[in-house]
Amino acid sequence: MATLELVQVKKSFGQTHVIHGVDLAVAHGEFCVFVGPSGCGKSTLLRMVAGLESVSDGEIRIDGARVNELGAAERGLAMVFQSYALYPHMSVRQNLSFGLENMRVPAAEIESRVAEAARMLRLEPYLDRRPGALSGGQRQRVAIGRAVVREPRIFLFDEPLSNLDAELRVRMRAELGALHDRIGNTMIYVTHDQVEAMTLADRIAVLRDGRCEQFARPLELYNAPANLFVAGFIGSPRMNFLPGRVERRDGAAAMLRLDAGATVRVDGIEGAAAAGSAVTFGVRPEHMKLVAAGAGEADLSVDLTEQLGGESYVYGKLANGFELTARLPGQTRVKRGETVGLALGDSAATYLFDADGRALKRGQTGTA
Ligand SMILES: Nc1ncnc2c1ncn2[C@@H]1O[C@H](COP(=O)(O)OP(=O)(O)O)[C@@H](O)[C@H]1O
Ligand SMILES: [Mg+2]
Repeated sequence: MATLELVQVKKSFGQTHVIHGVDLAVAHGEFCVFVGPSGCGKSTLLRMVAGLESVSDGEIRIDGARVNELGAAERGLAMVFQSYALYPHMSVRQNLSFGLENMRVPAAEIESRVAEAARMLRLEPYLDRRPGALSGGQRQRVAIGRAVVREPRIFLFDEPLSNLDAELRVRMRAELGALHDRIGNTMIYVTHDQVEAMTLADRIAVLRDGRCEQFARPLELYNAPANLFVAGFIGSPRMNFLPGRVERRDGAAAMLRLDAGATVRVDGIEGAAAAGSAVTFGVRPEHMKLVAAGAGEADLSVDLTEQLGGESYVYGKLANGFELTARLPGQTRVKRGETVGLALGDSAATYLFDADGRALKRGQTGTA
């Protein structure tokens, strides 16, 4: 087990600045996920932790000690990549033991570590096969096993499930969670997939353009996103955003005039939002309430309905052309071409952001 701290970590490739000063403190045994869109710097940050990329500025500490100058092999970490990079001419057993032989671990110790990893990852039936005779999921389990046998202080994963099909990804996700529960090591896991992040993480660092936008528990990101970016990134389909202005402010409540034409009341505002200021109103698709046309704050003309059986999605436009998505439990009678009403303001689960995108209100969707 080990702690990891990043203190104002920066990275430039020549004149190109890609990481702009990231601060993070990951606790002993924590499963920490770096999530963000492609190109935001997730791999670069992970590779700096691993020692595969130099740190341009700032400090990386493992168990409180600076490791900037330590080589990758001296940091006591193990990394698993998207490409499994197994040795094709070696058996699974040899793939698992090869690194330990290089580190001059005694043969008996190697045997017991390989046996334990094979048992944990359900690889025992395949130990004498070569990677070419394994499925994608089995290969990825070997790649993870190769990290496990090294008994690293911290596991680093860079999109390890991205090459697998959807069903296998879900299964491997559960296995990784179980592996973490069993061995309890600190894990840093990189993904662009917010569902993977939400399901695996103790805490998630949401990255954007080389900056950490928020570092928090999954449901805290969902319930109380710090800004527009996090609000739009966490949750699928993404939160609906409607620009508008504060018409009247009264304590924690405000009346908004949306550009789409509607007037909406918002309660529970914590930040500054004086009358006249530009704001963005947010409501998640799953918190939209559809009512009869004319009975809500705005009318939605329906472009498309998708029925998934257990839930349905309604896509439509407001009078000014603004697009909105509603996600309804169960099956809906609403059809393309119809007009329905939207009840926007009576939900506690609405959000408000200032002109710079900072949250002015926490959504109240959490459980006790
Ligand atoms: N060796 C490099 N030289 C120059 N730019 C790089 C290099 N490696 C990564 N980058 C740039 O750094 C940014 C972050 O890349 P990366 O960390 O791979 O993103 P992610 O893993 O989040 O998709 C990208 O804009 C990428 O083009
Ligand atoms: Mg990457």
